[in-house]
Amino acid sequence: MGETRETIGVIGSGQMGSGIAQLAAISGFDVWLHDSDSGALQRASEGIGAALRKLVSKGKLSELAGTDALNRLRCTSDLEDFRHADVIIEAIIESEDVKKKLFSDLDKLVKPSAILASNTSSISITRLASATRRPAQVIGMHFMNPPPVMKLIEIVRGADTSEAVFSKIKALAERFGKTVICSNDYPGFIVNRILMPMINEAFHALYTGVATKEDIDTGMKLGTNHPMGPLELADFIGLDVCLSIMKVLHHGLGDSRYSPCPLLVQYVDAGRLGRKKGIGVYSYKKEPVKMLIS
Ligand code: CAA
Repeated sequence: MGETRETIGVIGSGQMGSGIAQLAAISGFDVWLHDSDSGALQRASEGIGAALRKLVSKGKLSELAGTDALNRLRCTSDLEDFRHADVIIEAIIESEDVKKKLFSDLDKLVKPSAILASNTSSISITRLASATRRPAQVIGMHFMNPPPVMKLIEIVRGADTSEAVFSKIKALAERFGKTVICSNDYPGFIVNRILMPMINEAFHALYTGVATKEDIDTGMKLGTNHPMGPLELADFIGLDVCLSIMKVLHHGLGDSRYSPCPLLVQYVDAGRLGRKKGIGVYSYKKEPVKMLIS
């Protein structure tokens, strides 16, 4: 990015959006964080404040840089505030229709030079771009969860994304301190094309009684040095998200090997969506304190 201070707009203040806003603020940008839900926005703002204080207390960020980052971060429920943004990063729900509507609205609102980036984990960038009159300025910027910790950003070029826009977003990702990989616009891109079939296979192993969930996870953690086992990771990502990505792979690539495991489907049907619901493959609910009867 250039010498003058540029403005990044982030849409969606969930775990991904707030993490991205935090990264952008720490990296020296003016940041607008948008959410239509003011309660979610409030929680995100408090979470970012706490995360910055933690970084300062650990000596990973100077007190001045922490205060400066907080001062450059503004929260809003009004998209009009994005009029002057240079790059807008969308991190809302994974629904193609909802994202297309947002991209179409942004296209009419933001300045002609602005870049529209999506953090989508699997929706086609080419199709999102088709909802705008600036397909050359639409790109995928796929952060990994949690964005402040994970070292990778997967950049996805739509069919019409320009070379100049790709270079600008690559420079932005590097300014965030991340390593960039580049994917063409095919289902699952790079990371989820490989990760989700592995997670799905772990569900098959559990479903068909190959081993317990603990042994499947320990096998992959200690046997292949993954920080989390695949079932634990599925709970961390959200089983609904995993299922929706498997459906995108299955539908988009047309191969039965990407068919979602029935056990994954059943857990999602039962509302066992992972950590965010307190139960997925594992339970995260605190056991009630047992009364001791003497
Ligand atoms: N936000 C910010 N910082 C966080 C965090 C969060 N949500 N969670 C953990 N951290 C920080 C901690 O503060 C800690 O920092 P310090 O080292 O400075 O103390 C550091 O990360 C390590 O955290 P913990 O010690 O609490 O826990 P851990 O060592 O078990 O690490 C983890 C937690 C980073 C999540 C690690 O388990 C991990 O890397 N897991 C795999 C995560 C992964 O694969 N993510 C990608 C998922 S795929 C995806 O996102 C793409 C998609 O489209 C689905």
